[in-house]
Amino acid sequence: MKVFKLQNINSSQAKYLQLAETVRCAIRQGQLAAGDKLPSVKSISEDLGLNRHTVMKSLAELVAEGWIESIQRVGYKVVSHLPIENSKRQALSRVAGIRSHIDYRFVRSGSALPSYPANRFEYNFSGGQPDINLFPFDEFKRCMSEVLSRPNPAQLSYGQSAGTPELIDQVKTYLRKSRAITEREIVITNGSQEALFIVSQLLLQLGDKVAVEELGYPPAMSAFSNTGAELVGVKQDAQGMCPNDLDAQILKGNIRLIYLTPLHQYPTTVTLTVSRRMAIYQLAAQHKIPIVEDDYDHEFHYRCQPLAPMATDDPARLIIYLSTFSKIMFPGARIGIMAVSKAMAKAVTEYRLMICHKSNVLMQAALARWMENGGFERHLRRTTRVNLQRRDHAVLVLKKYPCFEFDIPDGGMALWVKLKHSTDIIQGIPSAEWLANKCQPLGIYIQHEKQFCFNKNNDRDGFIRLGFAGMNENKFAKGIDLLVNSLNIKH
Ligand SMILES: Cc1ncc(COP(=O)(O)O)c(C=O)c1O
Repeated sequence: MKVFKLQNINSSQAKYLQLAETVRCAIRQGQLAAGDKLPSVKSISEDLGLNRHTVMKSLAELVAEGWIESIQRVGYKVVSHLPIENSKRQALSRVAGIRSHIDYRFVRSGSALPSYPANRFEYNFSGGQPDINLFPFDEFKRCMSEVLSRPNPAQLSYGQSAGTPELIDQVKTYLRKSRAITEREIVITNGSQEALFIVSQLLLQLGDKVAVEELGYPPAMSAFSNTGAELVGVKQDAQGMCPNDLDAQILKGNIRLIYLTPLHQYPTTVTLTVSRRMAIYQLAAQHKIPIVEDDYDHEFHYRCQPLAPMATDDPARLIIYLSTFSKIMFPGARIGIMAVSKAMAKAVTEYRLMICHKSNVLMQAALARWMENGGFERHLRRTTRVNLQRRDHAVLVLKKYPCFEFDIPDGGMALWVKLKHSTDIIQGIPSAEWLANKCQPLGIYIQHEKQFCFNKNNDRDGFIRLGFAGMNENKFAKGIDLLVNSLNIKH
């Protein structure tokens, strides 16, 4: 039952009238809803220091006006058929002549990204999806419990906007050992998306251009274009972004930022070759254009040691290095990493103060403990092994069907698969988008090429992206089997 505390009363009006108006007000504003029970006469008189007779007189007035009713052995209740909405609206319109709800003048909008399908589909082949069942929740719970049993008041308050010092230390060591990144400032963000957004806000404005590959990560594109900047598609091939085309685009003017996913190009999975990295870096240095290097899933590289990030050889401090814990933990952890120059770290930390002050301290402190006690590294080894097995298994499954053509990726969590469009192989499948749409009623979610083109007029529609890391082998095989058989794909 809702407990309603009447406001203290202090005015020259008769007390019973003041009390009646307080109750009317509460009903009009929705604090008291139709059918809600009022506190007893005794508690109202005690709370407000009124004598009972005054309270009874006030309630009798409200009963007479039709706001409340008195029910034997229950007490006073707000009447159930009161047209409260109307009375509220009438009261407002009386005051201001308001007839309808305001139409806000939105001067900016968010992105029109599709809602995330994670739980809606039995077979979710979404590309960057980690398998949350692999996460050692019990182990992590112990780290969280240790943090909660020894709370650090200084950290729980405002300040330390770049992140919890223990986590910053752990991340520094981790990046040094796993990615050879040193001598950079670390900022912990609410996922790398926050970092992408802040960097865009800091570096871009209307009239600027951002060089991106023709196919890319839609949330990054949204963050860039939200500033008013124009996205410029640079040609890409089996070695990643083409430096010649980048050069041509830079010469047209106004390119202020380059966005790359060099280790595993998103969504095609190819690794940007060393010679191309050097050529792109030289162009960027010559024209003083910063590069966002999004190293989002470097943990999962299977063939050999992954190529070192561009941030390890960055004399001009052009590289804004980003990474995330969303793949190795889960996206809801919202832990992103920036490894940047002092100037960029300062600008980002100051900008964050306007949005959110800092990230979730408990999560950061628990993660720091988990990294310190070796749990993170164990989990890393296990998931890398499991994901490699899943990649190999996915390759075997898909190879059974000649309608799918693909290169085996050296790393990552997804395969970039070409649908062979010859009608003797695929019966009546006009496009990847068509296939993805047809899959949905079957409980299968797959991403198709068009979803990664920021230029919607682009006619690219021949590939699908199949994530293999988010589900076990059995489920992957069943999902593909269902897809192929239900859609009558010849095989
Ligand atoms: C290219 C790319 N960058 C970054 C991320 C991670 O984003 P966040 O850290 O905001 O979860 C993803 C996740 O899907 C991604 O695919």
